[in-house]
Amino acid sequence: MNRTSRTGLISRRLFLGGAAGAGIAPALRSQEPEARVEILLDEPVATIAPEIYSHFVENLGTVVYGGVWVGEESKISNIGGVRKELVEKLRKVRPAVVRWPGGCFADQYDWRDGIGPRSKRPRRTNFWVDAKEWPANASKTGPQRYDPNEFGTIEFARFCRLAGAQPYFAANLRSLPPQEFWRWVEYCNSPAGSTTLADQRAADGEREPLNVRFWGVGNESWGCGGEFTPEDYATEFRRYATWVPSYGVKLALVGSGPNGDSRDWTRRFFEKMTRGHGLGNLWGWAAHHYSWKAVSGANGDWYRGKGDALKYDTEQYYAILSEAGRMEPLIISQWGVMGEFDPKHAVRLVVDEWGAWYAPGTEPTPESLLGQQNTMRDAVLAGLTLDIFNRHADKVAMANIAQLVNNLQALFLVREDRLAATPTYHVFDMYSAHQGATAVRAEFASPQVPFQRGGQPAGIPGLNGSASINGKRLTVTVTNPHMTQASVAEITLRGGTVKSVSGTVLAAADVHAHNTWDHPNAVEPKAAAVTGKGNAITHTFPPASVTKLSVDLA
Ligand code: AHR
Repeated sequence: MNRTSRTGLISRRLFLGGAAGAGIAPALRSQEPEARVEILLDEPVATIAPEIYSHFVENLGTVVYGGVWVGEESKISNIGGVRKELVEKLRKVRPAVVRWPGGCFADQYDWRDGIGPRSKRPRRTNFWVDAKEWPANASKTGPQRYDPNEFGTIEFARFCRLAGAQPYFAANLRSLPPQEFWRWVEYCNSPAGSTTLADQRAADGEREPLNVRFWGVGNESWGCGGEFTPEDYATEFRRYATWVPSYGVKLALVGSGPNGDSRDWTRRFFEKMTRGHGLGNLWGWAAHHYSWKAVSGANGDWYRGKGDALKYDTEQYYAILSEAGRMEPLIISQWGVMGEFDPKHAVRLVVDEWGAWYAPGTEPTPESLLGQQNTMRDAVLAGLTLDIFNRHADKVAMANIAQLVNNLQALFLVREDRLAATPTYHVFDMYSAHQGATAVRAEFASPQVPFQRGGQPAGIPGLNGSASINGKRLTVTVTNPHMTQASVAEITLRGGTVKSVSGTVLAAADVHAHNTWDHPNAVEPKAAAVTGKGNAITHTFPPASVTKLSVDLA
């Protein structure tokens, strides 16, 4: 998106922002539009892959044990051991794909431990056993540290089926040989009755093939996935990914992409791959981006630098959103490097981990390693990020927020039989209208929001958003990141006129607002009155809000 169009409005906003910074009430100074949005209906970007709206469950803390999986004998309402309320609510937001079993956990996981009768499966030490973030009062012996393997391949596949999602398995490249990867594919996808592993799958309750399409080949192979060099990882990738029997499924293999926006990792991997036999069946290139630098001057201080999920000041609020905004240059930068070797872009980007990552302290249970609360700040972050993906629908083939339950930017917080959907959940609900629609160019021209970061002036873009069209239905989603100030925008449709328009808004009087088990509906979407006439819609976007406008075109 061309951000230069914002500049004309900056000086006015700096004046308004300065007033807000001086503690003046959040009310609007005038009803004059200060932001302008143009929706170019005749300029399609690409189809928004439903897979952009995907999820991640790692065997980490209480994501799986205590989160998704409660077991068949549990008093907690379940379907075959899967938490019923969670799966029903998840289904509502149309999750396209769920990734499992990691994350870092994946490169230590032996898929063979998770098949066969549950009572006979081995107990293993979890990858995360020694993590420094464990709360002091967490159980030292529970399933979060010593994996009972009750939740294996079939349980995960059934969970996905219940949720209406496709499974995405992350294969172990660090500590299992390629043969085991192919055998895992065989266990999942070989025809009924064809092999010993197909018979094993039938004995485990699934006679017909699971037809798993998405497979990650290693995870963060520059780090917990083996600390490879890009060249060594390219060699390993080829060993795992070449000549994999497909059993009639168009396998989509995902390579382990860069640490942050390391262009060096991507360039050297692609260089080595294309110098040899080509990119082969590499379908996606995985990038991870977490927003975690909340506190200025805390570099290297693992805990303090991340800030708290609930208690944050103005600087920390904007710092996290500013970090989230780095997703857009990351996508553009990685896409550019990939294009040097793959000019037709056969390989697309897969952002299979993203979200906010705060310091320990707000875990839903002591065993919820990396668990954190989730406020309106996170809702804005989610909207802002999903809008970036929509705007780059030509580049991003899949994205998985980390992680589904009791973890980093979670959609659900659970303890025993209690469940609260977070503000982030509601954003996924609102944005699901974009899935499978055609992204169209949307230009947002609005003043920067100024703030102080580490004593230095900084700023983030004002209104952000994206637009997509599905038949006669135009969906426009917009975030206003300003902590205290509403923004009036004039939205102009180029190439269409409004027949009717309705709005949904997620906002709260205080950006720190969040949902708890006792107050599960403290933050929830509300209908918003919107008027549109001809090709124009004028709307006021409340402070720290996420809005969806649904426009029926004449
Ligand atoms: O999501 C938590 C961890 O973050 C994942 O296991 C790893 O891939 C990333 O570093």
